[in-house]
Amino acid sequence: MTRDSESSTPEDEVLTDGGETAAEGADEVALDPWGSSTVSDYRKLFEEFGIEEFDEVLPEVPNPHYLMRRGVIFGHRDYRPVAEAMREDDPWAVLSGFMPTGDPHIGHKLVFDEIIWHQQQGGDAYGLIADLEAHSARGLTWGEIDEHARDYILSLLALGFDAEKGELYRQSDNRELQDLAFELGIEANYSELQAIYGFDGETDVSHMQSVVTQMADILYPQLDEPKPTVIPVGPDQDPHIRLARDLATRMRFFKVSKAYASFEADDAERELIAAAYAALTDEAGNGDVRCEDAADWLREHQPEPSSARESAVKKLAAAGKEPVRPRIRFFDRKATDEAFEALIEAVEGEKRVYEGHIDSFELDRQDAEALAREVELDNGGYGFIQPSSIYHRFMTGLTGGKMSSSVPASHISLLDDPEDGYDKVKSATTGGRETAEKQRELGGEADQCPVYELYAYLLAGDDDDIAKEVYDECVGGERLCGGCKEQAAELMQEFLEDHQEKREEAEELLADLDIDFDSLR
Ligand code: TRP
Ligand code: SF4
Repeated sequence: MTRDSESSTPEDEVLTDGGETAAEGADEVALDPWGSSTVSDYRKLFEEFGIEEFDEVLPEVPNPHYLMRRGVIFGHRDYRPVAEAMREDDPWAVLSGFMPTGDPHIGHKLVFDEIIWHQQQGGDAYGLIADLEAHSARGLTWGEIDEHARDYILSLLALGFDAEKGELYRQSDNRELQDLAFELGIEANYSELQAIYGFDGETDVSHMQSVVTQMADILYPQLDEPKPTVIPVGPDQDPHIRLARDLATRMRFFKVSKAYASFEADDAERELIAAAYAALTDEAGNGDVRCEDAADWLREHQPEPSSARESAVKKLAAAGKEPVRPRIRFFDRKATDEAFEALIEAVEGEKRVYEGHIDSFELDRQDAEALAREVELDNGGYGFIQPSSIYHRFMTGLTGGKMSSSVPASHISLLDDPEDGYDKVKSATTGGRETAEKQRELGGEADQCPVYELYAYLLAGDDDDIAKEVYDECVGGERLCGGCKEQAAELMQEFLEDHQEKREEAEELLADLDIDFDSLR
């Protein structure tokens, strides 16, 4: 893990929103939002970080976007609730953010498209300019930030973001956001940021503040009501997603869990107690099981000494004659006194009230969750649902290796002169063989080819046939790089011409927006 990138200047920045790829020799997986880490093996992200494969949820997504169909969006965390809300027409949201450190480029276009597509599927859509982060973590001046911020927003509008339905904001201008960041900061401490991001004693306080600001960004769509929210990002942002998911939970007033007796048990202990209970009762749960009986059963049937067994036995023995009875527990995590009282009132049927928790013997888990959230919301809490995320692959640089803003030839800016865009594609590295003869014989390596990526990620648009045709003809040896690049270069030129025309048209929309691009700082 790279440490706090204090020293990294905008020039040596890696384009994390679409800019990184497998560079030779990089086989270690590091997810570092401010580093220049590369991802050489996407499969490792599944094993090491618990990111799930997108293909597994794909069948649940109505009219999936081509980036989903083509595996460019390769992973997710908890996307199911979003897909379900989409299908059921329930409220849900999409949000992503951009550090205005340079021109928006074709890597950012991926993310713009992801936001826009989700908006078109019916989500509340948010796009934000991470100007506090750019200023604190990258050291950009406000003048530079203003200029780039405008360019990002203009491209987002030109590509089809509907600003009347959705919301665009700058972190620095959003008071509500900053208030939320402040609240979230109460739930996170320095040691944790150190462990997640490698922060140390030299890290700026403002950089840390930009982290809680991003946490607030991610939860911002839920300020009016809790809803599933998807955050489309590159995998380098996953540490932020995990922290945001944790914080969402930590902000909750109550934790709902299953319990078997009045005392508290952790997950491992609870599992053992559940096993004893199941063994000592019939299927209907009949049988007069006391805690001490369960302790005896565990001593006898779980002879493997483990710390969970030891502590479960101890707790059960101490509870003696208390009956073992399954129940749903509302644990008071950070509820106000009024909220706790309100929950006591709201739990119907048989219940028992303790110092820090309430046990219900009649509610099922789902109803209990819903009730806990309702009482929280009625009593001034946020009731956050854990945010979800989707991850896209980083685009390879046109010159091979990383796509980086310090190497203009490695990327295509959305503001590039269309003819320059044409030229850059024409001089891009390919996955072709040394000679035409070999190419015909062996076929090209489309999987290693930045030009093929351009087709798949952008130039083929929604038309899977084009992408497939390029791929099949390439690996089949029917396609030669010269002609392939000529075609790609022309398409790129047309795309840039069209996009820039749309940017001009979007100027009017931009003027109507309530966003200030002259920060008086
Ligand atoms: N940290 C992101 C980046 O480096 C930008 C960002 C800020 C962001 N807030 C966000 C991304 C919220 C997604 C969601 O590009
Ligand atoms: Fe790449 Fe096209 Fe050459 Fe295949 S034919 S290697 S896709 S440039």
